[in-house]
Amino acid sequence: MAPEELCLGNGSNELIDLICRVFASRGEHAVFGHPSFPCYRIGAIAQELSFTAVPLRDHLSWNVDDLLGAVTGATKLLFVSNPNNPTGSYIPGSELARLLRALPERVVAVIDEAYVEYADADDFTPATELRNERERLAILRTFSKAYGLAALRVGYVLGTPEMVTALNRLRAPFNVGTLGQLAATAALGDDAHLRTTVEATIVNRGRLTEALTSLGLRVAPSQANFLLVGVERPGRSVYEALLREGVIVRPMPDPLHSWIRVTVGKPQENERFIHALERVLRNARV
Ligand SMILES: Cc1ncc(COP(=O)(O)O)c(C=O)c1O
Repeated sequence: MAPEELCLGNGSNELIDLICRVFASRGEHAVFGHPSFPCYRIGAIAQELSFTAVPLRDHLSWNVDDLLGAVTGATKLLFVSNPNNPTGSYIPGSELARLLRALPERVVAVIDEAYVEYADADDFTPATELRNERERLAILRTFSKAYGLAALRVGYVLGTPEMVTALNRLRAPFNVGTLGQLAATAALGDDAHLRTTVEATIVNRGRLTEALTSLGLRVAPSQANFLLVGVERPGRSVYEALLREGVIVRPMPDPLHSWIRVTVGKPQENERFIHALERVLRNARV
């Protein structure tokens, strides 16, 4: 990556908003998945774009043809969270390459790789390896997840120098603070720490999946650092009951009202969650 291919943001969240402002105008169209990261929708609404939120299959799985089918003559942006928040699902490399090739030239394909470090499936391909497939490709990365620096607010977009020049024209000049830049630079120099953290998360993700499955619950296969768990009752009531047990998970909006999302923690934290969830699910009132 060359410096002229990078634009830094106050977290990748800021860059989603910036991309909407720079690459699309009022009345133009954006495509993203549903359920997916809500900030694509917020960015589109703030810019007065029309948009299509493409339902994931069974609410969980990406389908490239469904995304392509939503593209219209007015589409300027397509957002894909890969792996996806909140489902943990991903588009395999060959399908992602097909999507990048098939999109009309004017569309900026935004591949949001906030959780890329946790993806270990054999057929997962980071978009950084697919840059030859398409000119208008913006790859979003963040230091908020695997690097653990969420509060310091550093993310970046990788694109062509032309795209980065356009982004820099509207980017606030002092958007990323010195502390964040220093922390991100130090983090990039500590591969061993990143590897240890990510490996532990992947192992614990597997164990937590097994523990939840053995409670008879449906767990969406995840390539991220969280699991989406089907609780077969309103997720919000499970969330509130868990809160009373001192465990914080996330209830999900429709169509995932009977699912909760839980972040993979340390083994003791995961155990505490499992025991609390067992107690909560035994309670008929939940
Ligand atoms: C898919 C996805 N993209 C981007 C972000 C934003 O992260 P940040 O602004 O901290 O870089 C998140 C945070 O939850 C996310 O889930």
